[in-house]
Amino acid sequence: MADSELPLVVGIGGTIGGVSSTERALRIALDAACQQGFRTRMFGGADMARLPLYDPKATTRTPEEREFVETVRQASALIIASPGYHGSISGVVKNALDLLEETARDAARPYLADMPVGLIATAYGWQATGSTIAALRSIVHALRGWPTPFAAAINSQIVKFDEEGGASDPAVVEQLMLVGRQVARFAPLAATAATP
Ligand SMILES: Cc1cc2nc3c(=O)[nH]c(=O)nc-3n(C[C@H](O)[C@H](O)[C@H](O)COP(=O)(O)O)c2cc1C
Repeated sequence: MADSELPLVVGIGGTIGGVSSTERALRIALDAACQQGFRTRMFGGADMARLPLYDPKATTRTPEEREFVETVRQASALIIASPGYHGSISGVVKNALDLLEETARDAARPYLADMPVGLIATAYGWQATGSTIAALRSIVHALRGWPTPFAAAINSQIVKFDEEGGASDPAVVEQLMLVGRQVARFAPLAATAATP
């Protein structure tokens, strides 16, 4: 099978303004899905920063907005990674997720219906990791998706990521890979469910 025909896992996450531990964590999880036979596409901090604030009443969409929505429409699974900002998900990640409202009236698959969605949260301490994962799970449920069982909660105060896809704690790498593998495990069911 050509690479372009492989089922797609889309990653949404990271922060803007430079090196992002959240984005590096997401990349590890996406690479694990890739090892299971998926192609991946990441919308990181720089991509999300190009999305305008979501206006539900807008009559046109920017090329970046259209590309984001179309790519999610093609996905068999998602992985969402957010930093904990003041105890919940960041505005940048939430703005990207708000844009998925554009799929509300899709006949084949409204929102994230029946899609597995892996979740990752980073925070500078443990407390916001838990509340951010809980917020992400609520959002995925609202979008009719299926949060996969294991979510990775990462304390960026004690774990450091490198450019090569590693981290100072190998257990964290293993947890992120588990997120990618669980998403890959259930993605084939999602593809079937999304078929009208
Ligand atoms: C606006 C803002 C709010 C934050 N709020 C929290 C918080 O409530 N709890 C916490 O543990 N860390 C908080 N942090 C720290 C980030 O969650 C943490 O550094 C995260 O790992 C950043 O991800 P990045 O490396 O991808 O930028 C906050 C950081 C910013 C910039």
